[in-house]
Amino acid sequence: MTSHRDDPAPSRRRFLGGAALAGAGLVTAGSARAEAGKPDPLITDVQDWNRYLGEGVDKHPYGVPSRYEKNVIRRDVPWLTASPESSVNFTPLHDLDGIITPSGLCFERHHGGIADIDPANHRLMIHGLVEKPLVFTMEDIRRMPRENRVYFLECAANSGMEWRGSQLNGCQFTHGMVHNVMYTGVPLRVILAEAGLKPKAKWLMLEGADSSGMNRSLPLEKALDDVLIAFAMNGEALRPEQGYPLRAVIPGWEGNLWVKWLRRIEVGDMPWMAREETSKYTDLLADGRSRRFTFFMDAKSVVTNPSPQAPLRHKGRNVLSGLAWSGRGTIKRVDVTLDGGKNWQSARIDGPVLDKSLTRFYVDFDWNGGELLVQSRAMDSTGYLQPTKEELRKIRGANSIYHNNGIQTWHVKPNGETENVEIS
Ligand code: MTE
Ligand code: CO
Repeated sequence: MTSHRDDPAPSRRRFLGGAALAGAGLVTAGSARAEAGKPDPLITDVQDWNRYLGEGVDKHPYGVPSRYEKNVIRRDVPWLTASPESSVNFTPLHDLDGIITPSGLCFERHHGGIADIDPANHRLMIHGLVEKPLVFTMEDIRRMPRENRVYFLECAANSGMEWRGSQLNGCQFTHGMVHNVMYTGVPLRVILAEAGLKPKAKWLMLEGADSSGMNRSLPLEKALDDVLIAFAMNGEALRPEQGYPLRAVIPGWEGNLWVKWLRRIEVGDMPWMAREETSKYTDLLADGRSRRFTFFMDAKSVVTNPSPQAPLRHKGRNVLSGLAWSGRGTIKRVDVTLDGGKNWQSARIDGPVLDKSLTRFYVDFDWNGGELLVQSRAMDSTGYLQPTKEELRKIRGANSIYHNNGIQTWHVKPNGETENVEIS
């Protein structure tokens, strides 16, 4: 198997052709609104959709978005990885609203491609330091008490390409390794209680049934707290890309722990020191030591609009929008600046503010066509404030990839075009 690269060597700054909406003269002078008094053929002429019958029911037994939304898609960055089986694509954050990610737009991260599993043939085994080793079928799992919870999943490598400076031109690419859905699943503590833990039990090992057999060690306290063994997302079965028929949900912790196609849980007294927690998902510090078991995803936010793929198009009334999240609790406040940090204002948070979930914020503002340096800064329920990239680098050095929750800057130019920049 080709080795995966969550850690591409930062290369020179690139502009992503198909994705970036480049081009001058984006801004329309004044409002694009039709002016009252002038006849508008879109109103005065009968349109085809008004004249002819539309498609009947069952045209799509499983619904699909309008054909006019065909650009709202996951995208990858081909030069990042050697093969699509061990690769990543990104959630189009700039095209979404609210807090729930539509299932078909959740970013994908696979180390060995998407396992194609018939649920009738899937088994979850639990063994090791337990009183009673057990094997569950999917039918067994679906007869156990279940819970519904909304959680974000963020890959530890999200924004990793931005560690040494701004690189990718689009919040889809800088921040799109995150999604937020409602999971339905059985608390892991219920499953562990059924197997019965032996007194020495301290760590668990979760293993996937995909060709990479990805595995991670999980501390028992977390397993007994809020971990779910999920079979559904957004009300329907998990998508194959997200681990159908069964995945681990490890709220607030790095995405790599959320083992997909989950087939085995071993209970032990020490961590396993698997590849994904030694050679990968550790951060090399300036003094040569490495941070490991960096489970929590700290508070982070990003302005999704405007952003390079969603430039400003109109002077006057505009909506700035963005997302904030924290692996340590809820989002308490989001500050936004339009002038690179000279002045900050509190954003308007709208929609549910849930524990370890994406939270939506807005700033309704008037744009006079001047240059903007747009940033957002999240504060979570622990009082932690999202740091600048410079503050992060002071502590972590230049070698890090994972856990980059630094403040993002977008430079809006007078023509509305927006670019990924860093200011000091
Ligand atoms: N589980 C298995 N079995 N195989 C994998 O390749 N990738 C991990 C994790 N679980 C992976 C896995 C990584 S690195 C991340 S970030 C998340 O799954 C991505 O979940 P998603 O594809 O639902 O976005
Ligand atoms: Co990941």
